Amino acid sequence: MIEVVNLEKDYRLEGETIKAVDNINFKVDQGEFMAILGHSGSGKTTLLNLLGGLTRPTHGTVKIEGQDIWDLSDNQLSEMRNEKMNFIFQFASLIPTLNVIDNILLPTAFGKKRERKHYDHAMELLGIVGLTEKGQAYPAQLSGGQQRRVAIARAFINAPKIILADEPTGDLDEKTEQEMVNLFRKMNQEENTTFIIVTHSSSLAAQTDRQMRMTSGRLEAEPNGCPQ
Ligand SMILES: Nc1ncnc2c1ncn2[C@@H]1O[C@H](COP(=O)(O)OP(=O)(O)OP(=O)(O)O)[C@@H](O)[C@H]1O
Ligand SMILES: [Mg+2]
Repeated sequence: MIEVVNLEKDYRLEGETIKAVDNINFKVDQGEFMAILGHSGSGKTTLLNLLGGLTRPTHGTVKIEGQDIWDLSDNQLSEMRNEKMNFIFQFASLIPTLNVIDNILLPTAFGKKRERKHYDHAMELLGIVGLTEKGQAYPAQLSGGQQRRVAIARAFINAPKIILADEPTGDLDEKTEQEMVNLFRKMNQEENTTFIIVTHSSSLAAQTDRQMRMTSGRLEAEPNGCPQ
């Protein structure tokens, strides 16, 4: 599903080069449910952005279903992203001028015409994340955790094959976090959705099937498969 070869991303900052991602190689199969752990600044967000084609690598390749994503034109890349993957971003990512339902419907706005069934599906997802009454609210009228749950609902609206989630439960309490993890697992089992989840939550990571740890831009499998 995903294959990463010699992946590297350098940032230049005040004359210095930061290797945010440093020669990473790994494969992810369709339907994997995995976590990426690591200290702040270790390169996790940069890696997710590379996997999703939001950041161009300095070296190396990212292949999605065998296709090198940087061989695609801009349009093809957007299309591929829209068809196959969705992000749950680390920081607030809702559009402030759209209400909750329209935010959830955003991924359906590209390409196909929006239909009644999309709206019904958005309402269903809103119910699943426990926010049925908030459909007409604007992001600024929601708490941080509620905004996060809307972003989770939005990530599911297109039934993507891959979900790249960056601290998806960062601002949720333990009970709500567990509800969201159950939802991810359900999607994973029923739809065979591939999940790559960046998290600092050891209880979340412990529920995944595979854990990788990033340290200073490098990625290694957890030796005992059990995060600290
Ligand atoms: N646009 C940028 N320009 C320069 N340096 C950057 C840029 N984005 C990230 N970095 C640097 O790259 C490194 C990796 O950053 P990244 O955001 O990937 O870390 P992270 O593991 O997601 O951290 P956190 O857990 O705090 O979210 C850090 O040293 C960061 O300062
Ligand atoms: Mg980050």
